[in-house]
Amino acid sequence: MTQLQPAIVFTGFMGAGKTTLAREVAHVLDVPVQDSDRLLTDRFGMEIEAFFAANGEAAFRAEESRLVGELLDGADGGVIALGGGALGSDRVRTALQRHTVVLVDVDLEVAWQRAHGKGRPLAQDREAFTALYREREAIYLAAADVVLPAGTGLGAVRGAIDAIRGLPSGPPGTRLLWASAGGAQYPVWVGRALLGHEGLPWPATGRRFGISDETVGELHAGRVRDLSGLIEIPPGEEAKTLQTTERVWRALVDVGATRGDHVVAVGGGVVGDLAGFAAATFQRGIPVVQVPTTVVAQVDSAYGGKTGVDLPEAKNYVGAYHQPAGVIVDTATLATLPPEEHAAGYAEVVKTALIAGGVLWDRIAAGEPVDDDVILACARTKLATVAADERDGGRRQVLNLGHTIGHAIETVTGYARYRHGEAVALGLLAALTLSGQEDLRDQVADLVAAAGLPVTMDPAIEVDAVLAATAKDKKRVGESTPFVLVGAPGDVTFGHQRGLPEVRGAIASLLP
Ligand SMILES: NC(=O)c1ccc[n+]([C@@H]2O[C@H](COP(=O)([O-])OP(=O)(O)OC[C@H]3O[C@@H](n4cnc5c(N)ncnc54)[C@H](O)[C@@H]3O)[C@@H](O)[C@H]2O)c1
Repeated sequence: MTQLQPAIVFTGFMGAGKTTLAREVAHVLDVPVQDSDRLLTDRFGMEIEAFFAANGEAAFRAEESRLVGELLDGADGGVIALGGGALGSDRVRTALQRHTVVLVDVDLEVAWQRAHGKGRPLAQDREAFTALYREREAIYLAAADVVLPAGTGLGAVRGAIDAIRGLPSGPPGTRLLWASAGGAQYPVWVGRALLGHEGLPWPATGRRFGISDETVGELHAGRVRDLSGLIEIPPGEEAKTLQTTERVWRALVDVGATRGDHVVAVGGGVVGDLAGFAAATFQRGIPVVQVPTTVVAQVDSAYGGKTGVDLPEAKNYVGAYHQPAGVIVDTATLATLPPEEHAAGYAEVVKTALIAGGVLWDRIAAGEPVDDDVILACARTKLATVAADERDGGRRQVLNLGHTIGHAIETVTGYARYRHGEAVALGLLAALTLSGQEDLRDQVADLVAAAGLPVTMDPAIEVDAVLAATAKDKKRVGESTPFVLVGAPGDVTFGHQRGLPEVRGAIASLLP
């Protein structure tokens, strides 16, 4: 008997647009598309709403589970769009395992706008709708092989097709996020032992020149396939300078790199930011593939295209937006990361979880470890935020939560006293004080302390010096620096002006 081919199965909450995207993919691939809701309507001989009203939800779910299970068992290639609730069934989730499952994300608000008032039985009451969204988010994420961030349109899904089809060739368990921002689109592969694996399509063409730091270069760069050369910089934030960038530019000249080649940044956020900046500017721009090897880089810095270096006066002050050609997140590289660097990354995880709310916050608040699922969830949050606003004009600013005061602490201590993540942990606590969220501050302080991060600032650091440095923040508009504040997990907003005494008080609250 010939083996059945996996289908590409689109799932997601109501209003996500899965049917439209599924049709588009089927059209491009010239394969049949099936829609489970249509199948059910045909079998019932009536609309789903009518079946629901006549027989109740339990009867509907039982029929849905049976019929969708059969559909998935029998599918041989092709494309399928599943109804939003079908994944609630064990039978369906088991049948999905041999297929490539694509989650189409949608914002809660957008989903409500699209679904409410259309006679849908589960989109009548806003509170119940929100609860259902949260409940299903966890189920969708657990089943997804591919995540298409909210707002992925027809153009972006067309761009993603080759990567989606390439997924089964990667190591088992590999997942794909499809990023789009500022007109650029790129794959983010997340999995174990991706480096060196031949299966996945490489996201850029031409020769590959690795840029790494001396530590990571020795540990991991050798496993990146087919590097034509490796340029190493000293490890640590102190090397994130224009002088180091000049050395990298000149080394690229030495090895004969051209505009047909690209850079592969193998390392933490320092390497990613600096190599990305070198790539953005070398010969006015060559592509960069990011291969993040720290928690900070895997949950945050490798995505979104912000690149740059520090000046002695202020952090990340010179740089460029340069979206990567692709991001390869090999979580196995974290095995060599020292515990204090894991801890530093945890601060960015907590920040991202506060922004995301929902499933991610629940997991972090429960003290769950940073595993591959958490890394994927953080990347998903960051990509969705960047997709909405590549250049910090609006929503992207929420990613700066805890960073205004965190960066100021780094600057006044010459980037030497604290790791970036440690300063962010302090900055987060100060931002929660400024937000008037004392209970949440205590909860976050417990979480970051348990991870080994500081919850009080070295008393040798002058509060007024930190205050003065916040005024140099790049987000400053006119005379004052706007702050990102927290109303609750999942409710993080930007652009809040706060008076100097209040900001000073929040910084002073970090003293032991
Ligand atoms: N571009 C962005 O959007 C963005 C977002 C957040 C942070 N950042 C930047 O990221 C930087 C911090 O990144 P970071 O915390 O990754 O620091 P880092 O790059 O300095 O790495 C930390 C240390 O870990 C070592 N290391 C890296 N990977 C390793 C591995 N797998 N095994 C063993 N050792 C390893 C490095 O050699 C280094 O000594 C800051 O400069 C910050 O500004 C940028």
